[in-house]
Amino acid sequence: MKPNVTIDTLISVEQIDTRVHELAKLIAADMSKDLMIVALLRGSFVFAADLIRALHLAGSAPQVDFMTLGSYGNAMESSGTITVIKDLAENVQGRDVLMVDDILESGRTLSFACNLVRERGAHSVKIATMLEKPGKRKVNIEADYVGFTIEDKFVVGYGLDYANYFRELPFIGVVTLV
Ligand code: IMP
Ligand code: MG
Repeated sequence: MKPNVTIDTLISVEQIDTRVHELAKLIAADMSKDLMIVALLRGSFVFAADLIRALHLAGSAPQVDFMTLGSYGNAMESSGTITVIKDLAENVQGRDVLMVDDILESGRTLSFACNLVRERGAHSVKIATMLEKPGKRKVNIEADYVGFTIEDKFVVGYGLDYANYFRELPFIGVVTLV
């Protein structure tokens, strides 16, 4: 059942839109046009969908693949172990990979995903994340492209969920249980 919460807007639709296009320009300027997007499901699907269209406008021609990683369950705190729930369809050997995720928190998810594609022979791996919570890092990893740095509050919307709800919100908001 949908949890009973209030959601206060933290980042508006307009702010998201502006920032996604800025990130795409930076990425298109830095990276090879022939890049491989690896979007981490489920949280990144909205950001990835907006980012690839912004990348097109910025002159890139990415290929896109998806990987589902698990650890979070339905809680607000992550467990330590990351598992591959659904693997990539494409071979990343020799590719310039842009790993795309919704939020960088402990860093365990992105660290796991980056190591995996490096082990498989990716030529380079960079990270784009819509959000980061800097205070919460458990492993030493930084994103190359960050949409917004936010306080240590639980947020939903724009693909981010609470118990798999609220992904559809077009803005990013802070959750308070009621
Ligand atoms: P990390 O492995 O701790 O960096 O966590 C990354 C994953 O935790 C993200 O891909 C999200 O799915 C989830 N997560 C972390 N913080 C939040 C939040 O504030 N709201 C919703 N999901 C979150
Ligand atoms: Mg997630």
